[in-house]
Amino acid sequence: NKPIRIALLGLGTVGGGVYKLLSMRAQEMPQIAGAPIEISHILVRNANKERPGVDAALLTDNWQDIVSDPEVSIVVELMGGMEPAHTYISEALAAGKNVVTANKDLMAVHGGELLDLAEQHHCDLQFEAAVAGAIPIIRPLKQCLAGNEISEIMGIVNGTTNYILTRMTQDGMEFDDALAMATELGYAEADPTADIEGYDAGRKMAIMASIAFHSRVTFEQVYTEGITNIHATDIRYAKEMGKAIKLLGVACNTPEGIEVRVHPMLIPDSHPLATVNDAFNAVFVHGDALDDAMFMGRGAGEMPTASAVTGDIIDTARNLLMGCTGRIGCTCYKELPVKAIDDIKSK
Ligand code: NAP
Ligand code: HSE
Repeated sequence: NKPIRIALLGLGTVGGGVYKLLSMRAQEMPQIAGAPIEISHILVRNANKERPGVDAALLTDNWQDIVSDPEVSIVVELMGGMEPAHTYISEALAAGKNVVTANKDLMAVHGGELLDLAEQHHCDLQFEAAVAGAIPIIRPLKQCLAGNEISEIMGIVNGTTNYILTRMTQDGMEFDDALAMATELGYAEADPTADIEGYDAGRKMAIMASIAFHSRVTFEQVYTEGITNIHATDIRYAKEMGKAIKLLGVACNTPEGIEVRVHPMLIPDSHPLATVNDAFNAVFVHGDALDDAMFMGRGAGEMPTASAVTGDIIDTARNLLMGCTGRIGCTCYKELPVKAIDDIKSK
């Protein structure tokens, strides 16, 4: 088969990881994906910056070069933020290009609209890396667990805050020092406020709740409370009580409506989530047929996130070769009510 051409939008922590992983697997790609996968463009803000190990001829700061190139069949958005990511993804889908993204900010607010656009143009829009880094959870919710009525999803879905709480608990590290380490390790968002205030976890919970409950939950409907009020004394008292403090996300399908929240919780040391440390994430899912399942793995960082993005690229390439892109969307057929944030807060 002739090569499948892809464009990377962004070459930071995640884009750099995807570039490396695709280079590492280049020889095997015809067997894995069915065709070679070639990066034809890399969009960055500064195309003149030195980027060791990267073919400088691929760099561009001009989106039109990419969207108007009929040879580009997969656009991989790894810039982050709302704009220009929203415009570029919409334009790519409208031009019949498949899209892979790790952008939870965008998917938690405009996911429904973008998935509809993808369906309209028979394109794939894949976003496994948007939730819980390397852990496969979007595809399991959409496909493997589709026969279930899912009633609850709960877990640790932000690597930065879990890393900070782990360092504060295990090493007595100060909050600010632990956050600086998480940033250095590539876990934190460009603006880490999203991590420490619980917004990033809230976005991921909104995405999972939408898929699991066949409804639309947006970030604005999620109650969020971060970890900025957790101090060394709280951690000490928790330890004395045989408990751990974790930032948990919870999404439940209740008779009164869907409830989605993120806040710190005290959990017993004997609970499996208490042992999920550093930048690891874990997601529990309860479904009527499956009972309970737990998914665990690295929730952030260069190569773990590249793992999820590359899986989506390969899956899209296979769909392209089989002529079946746009096959699996996320059906929103229930449109269940979502509880008001004030009602969740007052509980
Ligand atoms: P990053 O390190 O800040 O990299 C962003 C990249 O995008 C940079 O290469 C930057 O170009 C480019 N860029 C930003 N704005 C642009 C614009 N307007 N036009 C062209 N290029 C632009 O970010 P990251 O950590 O890789 O995160 C990327 C995405 O993945 C975000 O949506 C994030 O939430 C998501 N994500 C991250 C992780 C993680 O562990 N880091 C995990 C899962 C998902 P320059 O290089 O020229 O500045
Ligand atoms: N900043 C995010 C986190 C990256 O720490 O979990 C992965 O989504």
